[in-house]
Amino acid sequence: MTMMMSRTQSVIELDSRHVAHNYSPLPVVAASAEGVWITDVEGRRYLDCLAAYSAVNFGHRNPEVTAAAHAQLDAVTLVSRAFHSDRLAPFCAALADLCGKDMVLPMNSGAEAVESGIKVARKWGTDVKGVTDSNIVVAQNNFHGRTTTIISFSDDATARRGFGPYTPGFRSVPFGDADALARAIDENTVAVLIEPIQGEAGIIVPPDEYLPRVRDLCTDRNVLMIADEIQSGLARTGRTFACDHWGVVPDIYLLGKALGGGVMPLSAVVADRDILGVLHPGEHGSTFGGNPLAAAIGTTVVSMLARGEFQRRSTELGEHLHRRLRDLIGQGVLAVRGRGLWAGVDIDPVHGTGKEVSLRLAERGVLVKDTHGSTLRFAPPLVITADEIDWAVDRFVEVLRS
Ligand SMILES: Cc1ncc(COP(=O)(O)O)c(C=O)c1O
Repeated sequence: MTMMMSRTQSVIELDSRHVAHNYSPLPVVAASAEGVWITDVEGRRYLDCLAAYSAVNFGHRNPEVTAAAHAQLDAVTLVSRAFHSDRLAPFCAALADLCGKDMVLPMNSGAEAVESGIKVARKWGTDVKGVTDSNIVVAQNNFHGRTTTIISFSDDATARRGFGPYTPGFRSVPFGDADALARAIDENTVAVLIEPIQGEAGIIVPPDEYLPRVRDLCTDRNVLMIADEIQSGLARTGRTFACDHWGVVPDIYLLGKALGGGVMPLSAVVADRDILGVLHPGEHGSTFGGNPLAAAIGTTVVSMLARGEFQRRSTELGEHLHRRLRDLIGQGVLAVRGRGLWAGVDIDPVHGTGKEVSLRLAERGVLVKDTHGSTLRFAPPLVITADEIDWAVDRFVEVLRS
């Protein structure tokens, strides 16, 4: 007698045969989604507390974003940068304005924005600072993406092992230690590249004096401060940028994820003309970067951010989420970190690994992602309500008590 496979099982089986095994997903097969809810192929509903690593900050299929996408699908979607489109300049002008900068270099994925930021900093070093053998200082436990250059300065053994040779020109210092950073900068340093709050490392918030000191060091030593706000930016922490919590303005913002409204890959390097102006035709590019469809969506996303409503929601509801999670310290939770609707929760290992707890939460209808063994990340779409937060945390309590 042959056993009938569920739809979930048959998709996972097909997946294991034809999709490269570079991820280890939870056994949940999404069929549709709206707002904070994902429905699987069996009709089960899950509260999404990952939001595609913050790419879905505005909720799944946010109606403003999908309206912009639908309208643009009926106009023009891709011309490459060989021609102008009537969408790109308005998007770049709006995003530059949101960042208080002059110019935008549009790309697609987050890793591409990081690569592009590194190229811009090196070119600035060559053309403006007059450095030939440049270096860039980064932070330990960083996560900036998965390309060969980026993994060259990662200290995650799994991300690096077997992928050498590595790109030279990077030095890594402990995150949060401004003295170590000061010692690492020399006359050949062109940039400091950091996440203002380290996401994949477990949502690590630096000491309050850190980012202002990084800013001062970069200014004093004529080094570009590059803030990777790909995950922390665009309202996730309750401010437009995580740097805003400390009143710090970097020289270069790297943006991605939520910039594409959860619909299109869209990333950007944003800086003033004296920095981005080092790029000339032919020196950098991307066929899809700044395409009209992504630009139309990005313009809508920037206008939504300019209203401030998502930043406010993240602040207010984030306080509620953090309060509820902090109440669990001593009852299976060891620590809670983060800002806004972004919480890293260290679980007491007696309850299992982060992955095991994520699986048990998924069985109860809540989707979260583990990171670094025993940390869970709660980062729901910013359209979540207080009742939905309570529902998710109540499920978490059940898991911890089970
Ligand atoms: C801070 C940061 N930078 C860069 C990236 C890479 O983005 P992508 O996966 O779109 O290449 C990520 C992805 O998680 C990230 O969190």
